Amino acid sequence: MKIHSSTYWTRYFAGNSKIKRVDWTISPQISGEESAKILKSLQAWQLGETSEGEHLLHAAKKYSKAINDAEYPEAVKLFIKEEQKHGNNLGRYLDLIDAPRIKKDWGDSLFRRIRYFNTNMELWTIAVITVESAAQIFYQALKDATKCKLLKQICTDILIDEAAHITFQRERLYIIFSQKNFFSKWVAYYAYSCFFISTSLVVWFAHKTLFKAGRLSFWRYFNKMKFKLGKVAGRSILYDFHTEKAELIALPKTV
Ligand SMILES: [Fe+2]
Ligand SMILES: [Fe+2]
Repeated sequence: MKIHSSTYWTRYFAGNSKIKRVDWTISPQISGEESAKILKSLQAWQLGETSEGEHLLHAAKKYSKAINDAEYPEAVKLFIKEEQKHGNNLGRYLDLIDAPRIKKDWGDSLFRRIRYFNTNMELWTIAVITVESAAQIFYQALKDATKCKLLKQICTDILIDEAAHITFQRERLYIIFSQKNFFSKWVAYYAYSCFFISTSLVVWFAHKTLFKAGRLSFWRYFNKMKFKLGKVAGRSILYDFHTEKAELIALPKTV
Protein backbone atom coordinates (compact mmCIF):
# COMPACT_ATOMS: atom_id res chain seq x y z
CA MET A 1 0.00 0.00 0.00
CA LYS A 2 1.33 3.38 -1.00
CA ILE A 3 0.80 6.10 1.60
CA HIS A 4 1.15 9.76 0.69
CA SER A 5 1.92 12.42 3.26
CA SER A 6 -0.58 15.15 4.17
CA THR A 7 1.77 17.65 2.51
CA TYR A 8 1.47 15.67 -0.71
CA TRP A 9 -2.33 15.78 -0.49
CA THR A 10 -2.40 19.49 0.33
CA ARG A 11 -0.29 20.15 -2.77
CA TYR A 12 -2.39 17.80 -4.89
CA PHE A 13 -5.71 19.47 -3.92
CA ALA A 14 -4.25 22.97 -4.34
CA GLY A 15 -2.96 22.06 -7.82
CA ASN A 16 -6.17 20.32 -8.87
CA SER A 17 -8.26 23.34 -7.87
CA LYS A 18 -6.50 25.37 -10.58
CA ILE A 19 -7.52 22.99 -13.38
CA LYS A 20 -10.76 24.00 -15.07
CA ARG A 21 -12.39 21.12 -16.94
CA VAL A 22 -15.88 22.54 -17.51
CA ASP A 23 -16.58 24.85 -20.43
CA TRP A 24 -19.42 27.03 -19.18
CA THR A 25 -19.89 28.66 -22.60
CA ILE A 26 -21.68 25.46 -23.71
CA SER A 27 -25.47 25.79 -23.38
CA PRO A 28 -27.24 23.04 -21.49
CA GLN A 29 -29.37 20.77 -23.62
CA ILE A 30 -31.49 18.39 -21.68
CA SER A 31 -34.68 16.82 -23.03
CA GLY A 32 -37.88 16.57 -21.01
CA GLU A 33 -37.58 12.79 -21.11
CA GLU A 34 -34.02 12.85 -19.73
CA SER A 35 -34.95 15.41 -17.10
CA ALA A 36 -37.85 13.26 -15.83
CA LYS A 37 -35.40 10.46 -15.07
CA ILE A 38 -32.46 12.36 -13.64
CA LEU A 39 -33.57 15.68 -12.18
CA LYS A 40 -34.66 14.48 -8.72
CA SER A 41 -31.38 12.65 -8.14
CA LEU A 42 -29.35 15.52 -9.55
CA GLN A 43 -31.02 17.91 -7.08
CA ALA A 44 -30.44 15.51 -4.16
CA TRP A 45 -26.72 15.08 -4.94
CA GLN A 46 -26.32 18.80 -5.48
CA LEU A 47 -27.60 19.33 -1.94
CA GLY A 48 -25.39 16.55 -0.58
CA GLU A 49 -22.27 18.07 -2.13
CA THR A 50 -22.80 21.48 -0.55
CA SER A 51 -22.09 20.62 3.09
CA GLU A 52 -19.95 23.09 5.04
CA GLY A 53 -17.89 20.18 6.31
CA GLU A 54 -17.31 21.74 9.72
CA HIS A 55 -17.96 18.48 11.61
CA LEU A 56 -15.52 16.60 9.42
CA LEU A 57 -12.94 19.33 9.91
CA HIS A 58 -13.50 19.24 13.66
CA ALA A 59 -12.91 15.46 13.68
CA ALA A 60 -9.81 15.90 11.49
CA LYS A 61 -8.34 18.52 13.85
CA LYS A 62 -8.91 16.32 16.88
CA TYR A 63 -7.42 13.33 15.09
CA SER A 64 -4.41 15.25 13.75
CA LYS A 65 -3.41 16.20 17.30
CA ALA A 66 -3.58 12.56 18.38
CA ILE A 67 -1.36 11.42 15.52
CA ASN A 68 0.85 14.51 15.49
CA ASP A 69 0.20 15.41 11.86
CA ALA A 70 -0.41 19.17 11.82
CA GLU A 71 -0.85 19.27 8.03
CA TYR A 72 -3.75 16.80 7.89
CA PRO A 73 -6.59 19.30 8.64
CA GLU A 74 -5.36 21.50 5.78
CA ALA A 75 -5.60 18.55 3.38
CA VAL A 76 -9.13 17.82 4.66
CA LYS A 77 -10.07 21.49 4.28
CA LEU A 78 -9.05 21.42 0.61
CA PHE A 79 -10.83 18.09 0.14
CA ILE A 80 -14.07 19.67 1.49
CA LYS A 81 -13.54 22.64 -0.86
CA GLU A 82 -13.41 20.25 -3.79
CA GLU A 83 -16.72 18.66 -2.71
CA GLN A 84 -18.22 22.14 -2.50
CA LYS A 85 -17.02 22.81 -6.05
CA HIS A 86 -19.10 19.79 -7.14
CA GLY A 87 -22.14 21.24 -5.36
CA ASN A 88 -21.55 24.66 -6.93
CA ASN A 89 -21.17 23.22 -10.44
CA LEU A 90 -24.30 21.10 -10.13
CA GLY A 91 -26.15 24.11 -8.67
CA ARG A 92 -25.00 26.32 -11.53
CA TYR A 93 -26.29 23.69 -13.96
CA LEU A 94 -29.67 23.54 -12.18
CA ASP A 95 -29.89 27.34 -12.41
CA LEU A 96 -29.14 27.20 -16.14
CA ILE A 97 -31.94 24.72 -16.80
CA ASP A 98 -34.31 26.68 -14.52
CA ALA A 99 -34.66 23.86 -12.02
CA PRO A 100 -34.74 24.71 -8.31
CA ARG A 101 -31.94 23.87 -5.88
CA ILE A 102 -33.66 21.85 -3.18
CA LYS A 103 -33.16 22.56 0.54
CA LYS A 104 -34.22 19.21 1.96
CA ASP A 105 -33.87 15.56 1.00
CA TRP A 106 -34.42 12.55 3.28
CA GLY A 107 -31.12 10.88 2.34
CA ASP A 108 -29.21 14.09 2.92
CA SER A 109 -30.99 14.73 6.25
CA LEU A 110 -30.15 11.21 7.40
CA PHE A 111 -26.51 11.55 6.49
CA ARG A 112 -26.30 15.04 8.05
CA ARG A 113 -27.67 13.68 11.32
CA ILE A 114 -25.04 10.94 11.36
CA ARG A 115 -22.34 13.51 10.57
CA TYR A 116 -23.54 15.85 13.32
CA PHE A 117 -22.82 13.41 16.12
CA ASN A 118 -19.66 11.99 14.63
CA THR A 119 -16.32 13.18 15.95
CA ASN A 120 -14.50 9.94 15.19
CA MET A 121 -12.13 9.96 12.23
CA GLU A 122 -12.54 6.25 11.53
CA LEU A 123 -16.34 6.55 11.20
CA TRP A 124 -15.91 9.62 9.04
CA THR A 125 -13.46 7.87 6.78
CA ILE A 126 -15.57 4.76 6.18
CA ALA A 127 -18.68 6.92 5.69
CA VAL A 128 -16.96 9.20 3.18
CA ILE A 129 -15.30 6.32 1.32
CA THR A 130 -18.70 4.61 0.95
CA VAL A 131 -20.41 7.72 -0.36
CA GLU A 132 -17.50 8.45 -2.71
CA SER A 133 -17.70 4.92 -4.14
CA ALA A 134 -21.43 5.29 -4.75
CA ALA A 135 -20.73 8.76 -6.21
CA GLN A 136 -18.41 7.29 -8.82
CA ILE A 137 -21.16 4.96 -10.03
CA PHE A 138 -23.78 7.68 -9.73
CA TYR A 139 -21.92 10.28 -11.82
CA GLN A 140 -20.97 7.70 -14.45
CA ALA A 141 -24.64 6.69 -14.70
CA LEU A 142 -25.67 10.36 -14.91
CA LYS A 143 -23.13 10.90 -17.68
CA ASP A 144 -24.46 7.88 -19.57
CA ALA A 145 -28.07 8.94 -19.03
CA THR A 146 -27.74 12.33 -20.69
CA LYS A 147 -26.80 13.68 -24.10
CA CYS A 148 -26.15 17.14 -22.68
CA LYS A 149 -22.50 18.02 -23.36
CA LEU A 150 -22.27 20.46 -20.45
CA LEU A 151 -23.68 17.99 -17.94
CA LYS A 152 -21.33 15.28 -19.25
CA GLN A 153 -18.37 17.63 -18.71
CA ILE A 154 -19.49 18.40 -15.15
CA CYS A 155 -19.71 14.65 -14.46
CA THR A 156 -16.27 13.96 -15.96
CA ASP A 157 -14.74 16.68 -13.79
CA ILE A 158 -16.36 15.20 -10.67
CA LEU A 159 -15.30 11.67 -11.62
CA ILE A 160 -11.66 12.76 -11.95
CA ASP A 161 -11.80 14.41 -8.51
CA GLU A 162 -13.58 11.47 -6.89
CA ALA A 163 -10.90 8.98 -7.96
CA ALA A 164 -8.32 10.96 -5.96
CA HIS A 165 -10.75 11.38 -3.05
CA ILE A 166 -11.04 7.63 -2.76
CA THR A 167 -7.26 7.22 -2.72
CA PHE A 168 -7.01 9.96 -0.06
CA GLN A 169 -9.61 8.28 2.16
CA ARG A 170 -8.41 4.73 1.50
CA GLU A 171 -4.93 5.63 2.74
CA ARG A 172 -6.45 7.13 5.91
CA LEU A 173 -8.59 4.07 6.53
CA TYR A 174 -5.52 1.88 6.11
CA ILE A 175 -3.50 4.01 8.57
CA ILE A 176 -6.28 3.88 11.17
CA PHE A 177 -6.84 0.15 10.63
CA SER A 178 -3.16 -0.75 10.87
CA GLN A 179 -2.97 0.68 14.42
CA LYS A 180 -5.55 -1.78 15.74
CA ASN A 181 -4.92 -5.03 17.53
CA PHE A 182 -5.87 -8.39 16.03
CA PHE A 183 -9.38 -8.52 17.51
CA SER A 184 -10.27 -4.89 16.73
CA LYS A 185 -9.14 -5.44 13.14
CA TRP A 186 -11.45 -8.42 12.85
CA VAL A 187 -14.42 -6.41 14.18
CA ALA A 188 -13.58 -3.35 12.06
CA TYR A 189 -13.22 -5.36 8.85
CA TYR A 190 -16.78 -6.73 9.17
CA ALA A 191 -18.18 -3.40 10.41
CA TYR A 192 -16.76 -1.57 7.37
CA SER A 193 -18.25 -4.16 5.00
CA CYS A 194 -21.67 -4.06 6.69
CA PHE A 195 -21.80 -0.28 6.60
CA PHE A 196 -20.64 -0.16 2.99
CA ILE A 197 -23.13 -2.74 1.74
CA SER A 198 -26.12 -1.38 3.65
CA THR A 199 -25.40 2.19 2.51
CA SER A 200 -25.05 0.91 -1.08
CA LEU A 201 -28.57 -0.51 -0.85
CA VAL A 202 -29.99 2.77 0.50
CA VAL A 203 -28.34 4.67 -2.40
CA TRP A 204 -29.78 2.23 -4.94
CA PHE A 205 -33.33 2.59 -3.63
CA ALA A 206 -33.04 6.37 -3.49
CA HIS A 207 -31.66 6.75 -7.03
CA LYS A 208 -32.69 3.65 -8.95
CA THR A 209 -34.53 5.63 -11.65
CA LEU A 210 -31.32 7.44 -12.54
CA PHE A 211 -29.17 4.30 -12.34
CA LYS A 212 -31.57 2.53 -14.70
CA ALA A 213 -31.50 5.53 -17.08
CA GLY A 214 -27.70 5.09 -17.06
CA ARG A 215 -28.21 1.42 -18.07
CA LEU A 216 -27.43 -0.06 -14.68
CA SER A 217 -29.53 -2.88 -13.32
CA PHE A 218 -29.56 -3.56 -9.57
CA TRP A 219 -27.12 -6.44 -9.91
CA ARG A 220 -24.71 -4.53 -12.11
CA TYR A 221 -24.77 -1.68 -9.59
CA PHE A 222 -24.40 -4.02 -6.62
CA ASN A 223 -21.52 -5.93 -8.19
CA LYS A 224 -19.75 -2.67 -8.97
CA MET A 225 -20.13 -1.60 -5.34
CA LYS A 226 -18.86 -4.96 -4.08
CA PHE A 227 -15.85 -4.64 -6.38
CA LYS A 228 -15.19 -1.14 -5.02
CA LEU A 229 -15.50 -2.41 -1.45
CA GLY A 230 -12.76 -4.93 -2.19
CA LYS A 231 -10.56 -2.15 -3.53
CA VAL A 232 -10.96 0.21 -0.57
CA ALA A 233 -11.56 -2.04 2.42
CA GLY A 234 -10.96 -5.59 1.23
CA ARG A 235 -8.71 -8.01 3.11
CA SER A 236 -5.86 -7.65 0.64
CA ILE A 237 -5.90 -3.87 1.17
CA LEU A 238 -6.40 -3.60 4.92
CA TYR A 239 -4.07 -6.47 5.79
CA ASP A 240 -1.37 -5.41 3.32
CA PHE A 241 1.80 -5.05 5.37
CA HIS A 242 3.95 -3.91 2.45
CA THR A 243 3.78 -0.15 2.63
CA GLU A 244 5.75 1.71 0.01
CA LYS A 245 8.47 3.80 1.52
CA ALA A 246 8.84 6.44 -1.19
CA GLU A 247 6.20 8.74 0.21
CA LEU A 248 5.58 6.95 3.46
CA ILE A 249 4.67 9.04 6.44
CA ALA A 250 5.38 7.85 9.95
CA LEU A 251 2.44 5.74 11.01
CA PRO A 252 0.73 7.27 14.02
CA LYS A 253 1.20 5.70 17.42
CA THR A 254 -2.29 6.43 18.70
CA VAL A 255 -5.61 7.04 17.05
FE1 LIG B 1 -18.11 15.04 -4.69
FE1 LIG C 1 -15.62 13.22 -3.22
